[in-house]
Amino acid sequence: MNCQFIFIIAFFFSLLLVTSSTYVEIKQVVPTTFTISKVNSSKIILGVSWGGTNEADDEYVLTRLKCFNDAVTVINSPQVHVFGDHSTTYELAVHKNDVLVRCRTGVRDIAKWLTFFYFRT
Ligand SMILES: *[C@@H]1O[C@H](CO)[C@@H](O)[C@H](O)[C@H]1NC(C)=O
Repeated sequence: MNCQFIFIIAFFFSLLLVTSSTYVEIKQVVPTTFTISKVNSSKIILGVSWGGTNEADDEYVLTRLKCFNDAVTVINSPQVHVFGDHSTTYELAVHKNDVLVRCRTGVRDIAKWLTFFYFRT
């Protein structure tokens, strides 16, 4: 937490110092791969990976998965990770098969991304 605070201060201070002609450093988290594996008719494991720029490996990130359909229940969201984990898995209980499900997932520290995707149960 303390480390993060110092980083935020340093980050904004560095923004004040740069002039219009210099390259400004970007801090960002980006999604990389999604994997979906059906364990059986009542269980799905969803894998989400992330990368980024100017993120410290020990920086805390909060990850989330939400699905907008009664056909599934997300069992382990949100999760606390460090950026250096680079990936996580979510467990989903499936209540109905062959249903198109829309989900939203994201990773957040002071930067964040959120993305929507679909899959069929
Ligand atoms: C599906 O797999 C999970 C974990 O491997 C198990 O607990 C569950 O009983 C299985 N369900 C069915 C319907 O096979």
